[in-house]
Amino acid sequence: MLTDTLLWACLMLILLAVGGGWLIRRLFRHVIQSISRTTQAITHGDMSRRMPVQGTDDELDEIAITINEMLDRISRLMEGVRQVSNAIAHDLRTPIARARAQLEDAALHATSEAELRAAMEQAASNLDNVTAIFEALLRIAQIESGARRSAFVQFDLVPALQDVADLYQAVAEEHGLKCVRHLPDHLPFFGDRAMFQQAVANLLDNAIKFSPPNGTVTLSAEILTTGRHSDGSSDRQLNLSVTDEGIGMNEADMARASERFFRAEQARHTPGSGLGLSLVEAIVHLHDGQLHLASNTPGLLARITVPLPDEATTSSERAGDPPHPF
Ligand SMILES: Nc1ncnc2c1ncn2[C@@H]1O[C@H](COP(=O)(O)OP(=O)(O)O)[C@@H](O)[C@H]1O
Ligand SMILES: [Mg+2]
Repeated sequence: MLTDTLLWACLMLILLAVGGGWLIRRLFRHVIQSISRTTQAITHGDMSRRMPVQGTDDELDEIAITINEMLDRISRLMEGVRQVSNAIAHDLRTPIARARAQLEDAALHATSEAELRAAMEQAASNLDNVTAIFEALLRIAQIESGARRSAFVQFDLVPALQDVADLYQAVAEEHGLKCVRHLPDHLPFFGDRAMFQQAVANLLDNAIKFSPPNGTVTLSAEILTTGRHSDGSSDRQLNLSVTDEGIGMNEADMARASERFFRAEQARHTPGSGLGLSLVEAIVHLHDGQLHLASNTPGLLARITVPLPDEATTSSERAGDPPHPF
């Protein structure tokens, strides 16, 4: 009886093992075939294809969801690259073509050396414009890669902001605008001083550029406590905003404003290349912050928020640091 039982048990075991193995293999084959079908379709150019998700919340669904997220990100990156290359082709052609036409015209029609010289200077300034656009694009790419985080230091944001505001105050007054600042005495901040100044300068530049005379441009900065924890620590964030009373933007344009080369229809007749807000956004993201645009009725409100480390942890963590100069 014992031998019989053992034999049957062995047989059952073998059957179960083979059956189980077959089932698992079928399952894997099904998943792999589905991945393979999707990747093949994508290889043939159909970037819209995604892995089927069964909604069963198991490991297979998890793989499908992860792969789909990866494909979404690749699509977004490809769309970005396509849009930037189109924009480069479009926006750089104009100043180059203009410079060429000026030189050609001067070569054919200039009657004096002075005319020739003027045409060459014009052409050189158009080409400088092209170089500036390339430099801005490269800077944005460099900042987005996060390479410059090593230059972060602890500094007081207030004098840095005052310096930028002083510069733009003169420009604003020339445009007949009033420049108002709401700044506290000190704002300790950890980041890249020059880049942060560049971001604020770009926002002030836009505020002035897109405002008719007699408006007010406001620069304000403060630290807000956004939440408190039971252990006594709190969430704090830097709120920096630039507001103007100019032409403003509609919702659809605001959503696209920080795309590279984007310029709203009403902005066509003002000088610019549509890279200013892209640079601002790249700098703010590098500081783990966000750039928000909203209506100021009339005008635009551009706000930068950056989460700050808790005061308690900062002071204990940095206890060994040399004293700050402020
Ligand atoms: N303060 C503002 N008021 C109205 N529109 C603005 C303002 N700032 C930005 N914009 C819109 O967003 C677009 C993108 O801004 P930006 O990237 O700085 O490019 P640029 O200044 O070279 O035009 C502008 O062309 C304009 O249409
Ligand atoms: Mg600008």
